[in-house]
Amino acid sequence: TRHLLGVQGMHPTRIEPFLDLAESYALMNRSRKTPRDRLRGRTVINLFFEDSTRTRTSFELAGKRLGADVINMTVASSSVNKGETLLDTATTLNAMRTDLLVVRHAQSGAPALLAQKVDASVVNAGDGTHEHPTQALLDALTIRRHFGGLHGLTVAICGDVSHSRVARSNIHLLTAMGARVRVVGPPTLIPGAIGALGVDVHYTMEEGLRDVDVVMMLRMQRERMTGGQVPSAREYFRFYGLDRRRLAVARPGALVMHPGPMNRGVEIDSRVADSDQSVIREQVEMGVAVRMAVLDLLSRAGEPT
Ligand code: CP
Repeated sequence: TRHLLGVQGMHPTRIEPFLDLAESYALMNRSRKTPRDRLRGRTVINLFFEDSTRTRTSFELAGKRLGADVINMTVASSSVNKGETLLDTATTLNAMRTDLLVVRHAQSGAPALLAQKVDASVVNAGDGTHEHPTQALLDALTIRRHFGGLHGLTVAICGDVSHSRVARSNIHLLTAMGARVRVVGPPTLIPGAIGALGVDVHYTMEEGLRDVDVVMMLRMQRERMTGGQVPSAREYFRFYGLDRRRLAVARPGALVMHPGPMNRGVEIDSRVADSDQSVIREQVEMGVAVRMAVLDLLSRAGEPT
């Protein structure tokens, strides 16, 4: 389809073209040779209703490296503040002949709603607690570069799973690609129905990290929590923080990942985040390549092959 709204239900034959093209864009980025005419004449608008460092910047770089005209809409200084609705904002941007609309919104389902109303291709850049598909693609690409594939690997996704769109998209993508997924965290931050997604659930890091190939840490999303859910940072780190002692129960050389933004000393110890096992910076690098592949493939959707 011409939109990328989520990973749920996506078949490996649709996932792999994104990863393969992103792999070649990663190499081109390293040699600073990207096809600047690929998206010439196309317009990409970044419409972010929530804060972002990595996703917004990498979509902007991705568009520019392929020659698109990229506009960043800053919602804080837009007419949203004068009461304009999400739909009116999107249809206004659509009327300017936008080709790709990259949307982040606090409400789950907002990008899907827009996709029904606009001609532009819509890319979900994170919606509420629902999905963050380009994050899952860049995580998969990072893992694939180290292990050669995803099939048969065991990945532990740790921490605040309840509020994490990153966790949900990763669960869908990794299981679709044949990896085994465990979720690890306090019972208050693991949804009761998560087992229905085909994952194993562990409530201690010592059990959950045993012999895993990849440890994926999540940020504790205090801003999405309600009163009783908020643990203190110190207590959280004591039981669920990733330090060297806990990492030692994973496979030797297991990858340490974090989508960012990181809260050092809350979910992850700095010595682990900055260690040789950490691929956090590579995730950011792959983020640009994946978003180049997404913009490229979506802009070609519907063209004769
Ligand atoms: N991982 C991620 O989505 O980071 P940002 O919120 O900075 O975009």
